[in-house]
Amino acid sequence: MTSSGTNPGALPGSAAWELLLPAASAPARARGRFLQAALREAIRAGRLAPGTRLPSSRELAKDLGVSRGLVTEAYEQLAAEGYLRSGRGAGTWVGGAVRAASPRARDLAPRPRGVRVDFVPGSPDLALFPRAAWAAAQREVLAELPHRDLGYPDPRGLPRLRSALAELLARRRGAVADPERIVVVSGVAQAATLLGFVLHGRGMREIGVEDPGSPQHDGLYAAAGMGTVPLPLDDEGLALRPLFDAGVRAVVTTPAHQYPTGIAYSAERRTRLLDWARSVDGLLLEDDYDGDFRYDRAPVGALQGLDPERVAYMGSVSKSLAPGLRLGWLLVPESLADDVVDRKRTMDLGHPALDQAAFARFLERGDYDRQLRRCQRAYRERRDVLVAALAEHFPHARVSGIAAGLHAIAELPESYGPESRFAERVAAAGVAVRPLGECTHARGDGSVVRLVLGYAQLSPARIREGVRLMAEALQG
Ligand SMILES: Cc1ncc(COP(=O)(O)O)c(C=O)c1O
Repeated sequence: MTSSGTNPGALPGSAAWELLLPAASAPARARGRFLQAALREAIRAGRLAPGTRLPSSRELAKDLGVSRGLVTEAYEQLAAEGYLRSGRGAGTWVGGAVRAASPRARDLAPRPRGVRVDFVPGSPDLALFPRAAWAAAQREVLAELPHRDLGYPDPRGLPRLRSALAELLARRRGAVADPERIVVVSGVAQAATLLGFVLHGRGMREIGVEDPGSPQHDGLYAAAGMGTVPLPLDDEGLALRPLFDAGVRAVVTTPAHQYPTGIAYSAERRTRLLDWARSVDGLLLEDDYDGDFRYDRAPVGALQGLDPERVAYMGSVSKSLAPGLRLGWLLVPESLADDVVDRKRTMDLGHPALDQAAFARFLERGDYDRQLRRCQRAYRERRDVLVAALAEHFPHARVSGIAAGLHAIAELPESYGPESRFAERVAAAGVAVRPLGECTHARGDGSVVRLVLGYAQLSPARIREGVRLMAEALQG
């Protein structure tokens, strides 16, 4: 190709094609990343010289046959890295001193770029994070904390925080919460990994997981050397026969609000699961990921409260405050407690003391309860808005799993399918959705479209806009 360095000005259309075409034909999931890598590489190698103007995102997207969002995202990311520059009304061009610039850290946070409305579940509304109350807690603990508390903490966590958590979990979740058996962790993910290591150390090599279930589980348990065995659900929770047949002795479960279907396990199924655990000398790993949020159903207490020796209970602030805090808790049966604490010690010598102290103070002052009430009100409204918007634009949709949590399941008739194509079409309109097919090992044909729609992170106006954009994208 011709070097645009000798010819400053607009990047010729043909050059854009040659350079970026392989990236544009990458699989949909990797396309954005590939596009960014191809642009970065071309600039580094000098094939796009400083000053070279890039086509507008609209033109380039059209040339390459990719969504405009992908190109905008690539431009934004490369601008953040210093490779590109842009000016209001002046377009985008290759930055001047790229190779001489000091190295910049790339941001690999799983944050969507170039998406107008992001329904992918998993996040609370980060704009509701109680900054003032959190800042007050941090200021206060910094002023008060004895010097010795800045040393290595108890690997289980600061006693002050474990006491406050015990009170919280007993009161709100009906857990049997002995502060001596609480381990403060960096989230459900770390709790799961710790338990995986300990079970592996005791000779277990496989763990059952709900199917459909969280796409995270396979990777988390694999990191501890454990294979996962997908186990089907019925209307009441994990189906018992396949569980008995699987031959596993540990199973991960989300009984308060199953992820992603949103069902609450029936009382009978909870009892039968505990019977199963006793019969195989096994363990239930309860992931109470969003148990704090329920709207129009009776509270469902933690399974752990029914048999604390057969259930390890995991929770975190990721849905109630912010996942970036990386703060969670594990209630561990006595038989596993020493091993889990040893693992936590060797893993990281304990959770950061200042964060723990701030959270303890936040709990003690009632700030956490206030935050939950505030979010509960906001999320209930958003859920209602989502249900109404779906009824308006997708009158044949069947919406379920909405009595609790931060997401809903919308099932659409086959005419909207297949699922993957649906996601691609709405993505082109700037709407990100997670098809339920991404949460299951079962090989369906994906003809029925089932979407896991997170609504908590979106304002009511955004939710309405997102549903409308989806409907328009499908008409187009
Ligand atoms: C069902 C489920 N469990 C656990 C996690 C991980 O949570 P944490 O941030 O507490 O590690 C997630 C993350 O989104 C999740 O969706």
